[in-house]
Amino acid sequence: SYYNEKYRPQFHFTAEKNWLNDPNGLVYHDGIYHMFYQYNPKGSTWGYMSWGHATSTDLVHWKHLPMALECELDSDGNVLEMFFSGSAVVDVNNTSGLAIPIGKDEKGAVILSKPMVAIYTSVYPIARTMSNSQIIREGQQAQSIAFSHDNGLTWTKYEGNPVIPSPPVEYADQYNQFRDPFVFWHTPSSRWILVASLAIKQILLIYSSDNLKNWTMESQFGPCNARFGEWECPSLFPLYVDDDTAAEKWVMLLGINPGGVIVGSGTQSFIGSFDGKTFVADQSDTYDPTKVPFGSTVFQDFESTSSTYEDLGWTATGDFSGTGPRKASTVNAGSAKGYLGNGVLTTHIDGHSGTGTIASPKFTISANYINFLVAGGYYPYNPDTAGTPEDNQVSINLVIDGKVMHSQTGTNADNLVWRSWNVAPWIGQDAHLIVIDVNAGPFAYLYIDEIVFSNSPKDEANWNDFGPDYYAAATYNGLPTSERVAIGWMNNWAYANKIPTSTWRSAMSIPRKLSLKTINNKVRIVQQPVLSVSKLYSSTLYTHEFLVFKNGDIKVDVPGPYNARMKLALEFTRGTGTKFGVILCSDTTNTHGTVIGYDFLRQNVFVNRLKSGNISFVDSEPNPFPGCFVAPMPTQRTDVIRLSIFLDWSSVEVFAGHGEIAITSQIFPLNDSAEVKLFSEDGSTKSVSMSITGIDSAWK
Ligand code: FRU
Repeated sequence: SYYNEKYRPQFHFTAEKNWLNDPNGLVYHDGIYHMFYQYNPKGSTWGYMSWGHATSTDLVHWKHLPMALECELDSDGNVLEMFFSGSAVVDVNNTSGLAIPIGKDEKGAVILSKPMVAIYTSVYPIARTMSNSQIIREGQQAQSIAFSHDNGLTWTKYEGNPVIPSPPVEYADQYNQFRDPFVFWHTPSSRWILVASLAIKQILLIYSSDNLKNWTMESQFGPCNARFGEWECPSLFPLYVDDDTAAEKWVMLLGINPGGVIVGSGTQSFIGSFDGKTFVADQSDTYDPTKVPFGSTVFQDFESTSSTYEDLGWTATGDFSGTGPRKASTVNAGSAKGYLGNGVLTTHIDGHSGTGTIASPKFTISANYINFLVAGGYYPYNPDTAGTPEDNQVSINLVIDGKVMHSQTGTNADNLVWRSWNVAPWIGQDAHLIVIDVNAGPFAYLYIDEIVFSNSPKDEANWNDFGPDYYAAATYNGLPTSERVAIGWMNNWAYANKIPTSTWRSAMSIPRKLSLKTINNKVRIVQQPVLSVSKLYSSTLYTHEFLVFKNGDIKVDVPGPYNARMKLALEFTRGTGTKFGVILCSDTTNTHGTVIGYDFLRQNVFVNRLKSGNISFVDSEPNPFPGCFVAPMPTQRTDVIRLSIFLDWSSVEVFAGHGEIAITSQIFPLNDSAEVKLFSEDGSTKSVSMSITGIDSAWK
């Protein structure tokens, strides 16, 4: 079949139709890559979560298969059980006892099936007693298993489900925020390991099992590094450092939402060690969230003044019929969480039911980073009394021209910690901070203690991808350590349900091969598209070298359909200019286009989708979709800078350097925007070489 609706990616996986989110149950077995995924069988927005299924022999050409696990409804159409994210393994040793006889060998001995086992989160919206007499609470999220004897085509749910009904007693109140089990076989200890998240607590729980049915908690990890947002979809796996099979390290990959690098969803990682029980992140990979950003200058300090937010020039609009917005001087630390000092800004606390905003005075961006000392969340987070997290949200946004360049929604951060935003692209421009009550709810708050500018970053996380559209990344079981592959969901919860596509919605990233490489004395995760993508390459469409690329831009002719799907490889060295790069999906007047390049002064790789085409499909104000996404990549003056860029109609994925930088971004170009331009800004760029290769459709 051939899927060619507007914006339909041609070499990224999409479902035939309907909504899709996280990749699930990535497992390689008998020459086949299985991919299950979060899927709505009933529509093109999130809901009725089920597991879709597809297979591939090369991670590039996919075959759609029947749904694997389908959301269960009662006779009135109410949801009884949804199948949230999880993983899959093949139980080759029949540790689970779930294998069945499938025949006899020549000697008459019974041959057993090798069951494929899916480990997922059961979400039960309605309280009930299961047929195995387990008592389920309303909204419970619990870990369950199902097995298949026909390579994932048909599934049987284990009668003892859920196998991990609730978190340990000390987290008993988190019974409805406990999800996304990633299971793998740990060879040194010959047992199964499971990592699942206590989403709101930003804690990962590690369990072990001999049989996939009985699980023992071993340890916990977190919270650490990026501290705002729910932790979801962990993945734990070993990789070799610099291809040395004697130098193994373990990587914890996890999703954070909302609290990603820009708006909404993001993926962060930790490199460390795992002894079969406990994951310990390397010291060099963990950051002190309370450390003041280096070289900071204060913009506003709510702590030290006795003035109100009004005195500091902030204005409030909207409905604050409750007790908010609190004046800076009147916040009572004790009534919040008992650890905050006086003089912080908040929108509201109790009794509030309306929606309002507080805006800072306009200011000119004068440094590379804006950092703020903040705490916030839904308080007290008690699911029985305070509604769902979504009902209780306050966010702070950096807004320029009505567009959100950064956004952070308060979640259950327990202390004041620094959050840092890269604002280098907008130096010299006017901006303001807007604190928005996203959803009316009685217990939402966001405290800002201090706002400072700084020129160097406040390290807060190891971002696995610096774009807005790489989330819930999962990795394959069943491959050797040197062939670890990750796939992410190429979307963002900040606008996922609104992207302008039909009747399918959302794609997966290109499968990425992961490795560890020492770069500037630090071990980094390096990502590159799997090699098999090259199967789809056309002949080279354009290749050129410029000893000196002069100030200005040059149009490059790329014939359709490859002007919508191509790989661009760029190499260049700093000249007199300040930026070098390419504009994709651009129109003749340069009014629209996605700008990708390197900023020599600020040492950043960037993807700018502020004018990428349709940017206004989200109806909320200010608009969270447009933005310019930057990733720090320090270079020396004479270094060769390498970018490889994959365009697939409605997305760009950029890999820079050795792949230590990735930026993934959706774009929705206008119909008449198909030009490709190279540019050098404020001067020339040296030793430029460029090649463009078309990419054929994987669906034909
Ligand atoms: C991440 C996530 C998971 C959950 C799934 C539900 O995107 O929120 O935590 O299992 O999506 O579809």
